[in-house]
Amino acid sequence: MSKTVLATGGAGYIGSHVVLALLNAGYRVVVFDNLSNSSPKAIERVARISNGAPVLVEGDVRDAGALDTLFENHKIDAVIHLAGLKAVGESVARPGLYYDVNVAGSSQLLNAMLRHGVSRMVFSSSATVYGETGGRPMDENTPTGPVNPYGKTKLMVEQILTDMTAASSGWRSVVLRYFNPVAAHGSGEIGEDPLGVPDNLFPFIAQVATGRRAQLDIFGNDYDTPDGTAIRDYIHVEDLARGHVMAIEHLFSGQAADNRTSVVNLGTGQGSSVREVHRAWEAACGFDIATRNAPRRAGDVAIICAEPGKAADLLGWRAKYDLARMCADHWRWQKRNPEGYR
Ligand code: UD1
Repeated sequence: MSKTVLATGGAGYIGSHVVLALLNAGYRVVVFDNLSNSSPKAIERVARISNGAPVLVEGDVRDAGALDTLFENHKIDAVIHLAGLKAVGESVARPGLYYDVNVAGSSQLLNAMLRHGVSRMVFSSSATVYGETGGRPMDENTPTGPVNPYGKTKLMVEQILTDMTAASSGWRSVVLRYFNPVAAHGSGEIGEDPLGVPDNLFPFIAQVATGRRAQLDIFGNDYDTPDGTAIRDYIHVEDLARGHVMAIEHLFSGQAADNRTSVVNLGTGQGSSVREVHRAWEAACGFDIATRNAPRRAGDVAIICAEPGKAADLLGWRAKYDLARMCADHWRWQKRNPEGYR
């Protein structure tokens, strides 16, 4: 019998790609999502392009009663916990909300797992938990030091999960620290659908390319990098999604040990500057995309790049897709769905 995975936040950008990858790998999937920053249409489309249909349960991870009903109605073998808030600026303005949804919500979920005897979790974390390395690639032993409430909530949940995994009989967990997830499924059917003005580089360029915004502001051209613009490790969301399936497989394999939490980076190890990303987008679209130089954005650093070796050693995972493919797939999604799911 195939195993059933609960994906909290499974209707969201990364979640929908993870759900699709799980279904295509033969898992049954239950999605638990409050639809605060996601659309049920993502789930409908996943059902259309996959080998199976996910079950969507609408609910909030802070609601202990809803979690009890969820675990009573579905026999869950493992949880991938993607539900959470993720906007850095909003987390600075409304930290209480971030601690409530991300930390208290995760704690409710973990305690519900304890009550219902579910002992496997993959947690969606972020490279934002790392402190400054002066541009050196970040491995999993890089000291942590998040500088905003969003990053702090991710680190706190990692710590709660690690302690509960150590203390609870039969528990095993994996923390996945994502670098910069971008792009969309190659079908063009699912992708990122930001509310309001996008904060992040790829969705912003995508809206310039469709004509919804006038130009891309390049935040800083005086960084200590070859072309002066900041460098990030962008990772295709399909590669990221495959990493979750491999993490689940690892938890059910003989290689994972009880009471242990493994922390794993998901990045390519290959950095790209803002100008390189802009050029790759122009190549993918086949037309010019207007830019304007703008001041550095507060809180940004010159270079963030993964050392991805542990994912290869522990999970057998390596990123497959390059920047050209990321831009082409993101553009296909945006062109077909200029207003996202609306
Ligand atoms: C941001 C978040 C990070 C989160 C990640 C998810 C901040 C400070 N960090 O990372 O916590 O995990 O998204 O993907 O928000 N840029 C422009 N013009 C734009 C937008 C971005 O030049 O209109 C530049 C930025 O200055 C940066 C690079 O593009 O150098 C990437 O920016 P972005 O996509 O927002 O990601 P991060 O800031 O790396």
